[in-house]
Amino acid sequence: MNETERILGASWLGRQLHYYESIDSTNLEIKRLAEQDAPHGTVVLAEQQDEGRGRMGHQWVSPKRTGLWFSLLLRPDILPEQASMMTLVAAMAVEKAVEETQGVKAGIKWPNDIVLNGKKICGILTEMEIKDKKVDYIVVGIGINVLQKEFPEDLAETATSLKIELAPEEEEQYPEQISRTQLFQAVMWKFESYYECFMKAMDIRLFQDEYQSCLVNKDQTVKVMNPAGAYEGIARGVNQKGELLVERDGRILEINSGEVSVRGIYGYV
Ligand code: BTN
Repeated sequence: MNETERILGASWLGRQLHYYESIDSTNLEIKRLAEQDAPHGTVVLAEQQDEGRGRMGHQWVSPKRTGLWFSLLLRPDILPEQASMMTLVAAMAVEKAVEETQGVKAGIKWPNDIVLNGKKICGILTEMEIKDKKVDYIVVGIGINVLQKEFPEDLAETATSLKIELAPEEEEQYPEQISRTQLFQAVMWKFESYYECFMKAMDIRLFQDEYQSCLVNKDQTVKVMNPAGAYEGIARGVNQKGELLVERDGRILEINSGEVSVRGIYGYV
């Protein structure tokens, strides 16, 4: 095991690791590196983002040294329609890493949120570049709220951090009892392992059951919102392509994550 493997606990992910005190957005930086031919597995990690980006044009608040803000560069030989499954790979990796390092079972709100006690602790933003109708590269951006003690009013209803949920009374002199390094290592390790499952099957079938056991919106009434309008149905799980199965009027609809947002009807989950 070489030094990078020892520190990261992973073998190909993060062999090239770019670390910044502050950056606009790790997704933007990794795209710039990708355009300069950075290799598969490159990782960008920042202590703070000034223009952190969320899904659907939202901002992602990324204050200094409170969370894990990082992006992964992937260059798999897959078709554009398979790329959204990378979000599910990342979600599994974060969910399992939280369980392993913190000893709690978080859940996944399809497709890209990790939730703890009904609030969001992590969001994932997957973007891709296409060349000659094939994937040139994929960027998986992961933001995990670790040490925040509070959130701005507009986010406080839906967002939380590991610290708020797991160590609210922790002594000030031990601000990092929840180790960001350890959590980051665990995510890297788990990501490699679920990514390899994905590449073997070219879909999520090898961890489909495991994913469904983490799905917080399973058997819940959800509101599916897409550009054409909104409707309600009952989430029944995911298929091998990682699409959400929603029962509506006795029929099962397969929802691709694309520009769709899914919410609970009584709140965020
Ligand atoms: C979402 O839930 O809307 C997705 C949030 C993704 C945030 C991460 S933080 C690291 C990476 N860089 C960004 O600008 N965004 C992602």
